Amino acid sequence: MSKIEQTLSIIKPDAVERNLVQEIKNFLEKNNLIIKESKKIHITKDEASEFYKVHQSKSFFNDLCSYLSSGPIVVMILEGENAIFSYRKLMGATNPKEAENNTIRKLYGISIDKNSVHGSDSKDNAKKEINFFFKS
Ligand code: CMP
Repeated sequence: MSKIEQTLSIIKPDAVERNLVQEIKNFLEKNNLIIKESKKIHITKDEASEFYKVHQSKSFFNDLCSYLSSGPIVVMILEGENAIFSYRKLMGATNPKEAENNTIRKLYGISIDKNSVHGSDSKDNAKKEINFFFKS
């Protein structure tokens, strides 16, 4: 069954730094996702730790939070049919080396850390992550 959903997307520092924001936005829009909101921000390490707190027990947590706060990012609300799943498909596997052809991480990702984009992994997390960056 098709349903209109919203999900959160982050264009990470490596992609912002390489001026890939417009290219990634075009890719999303070409693939039927509507960019409802978009803003460029630079978060602190504490904010990154709060955002990624589900990963706090992981060995890579500290590096992950340092990285997300290392430079400007672009956060977006994407909307479309089955947006959560369809955006995750467009991103490709977490590790760019394992990502399928014609996915964002395959096209632009550098490494598992510098993998260019983040996307919510479930309906609950999409709601939480959208509220985190776009609370009114
Ligand atoms: P993201 O989808 O933003 O969610 C958490 C991030 O942790 C992930 O993308 C990767 O960039 C990063 N990461 C670093 N090391 C790992 C790992 N071993 N497994 C999964 N994610 C990792």
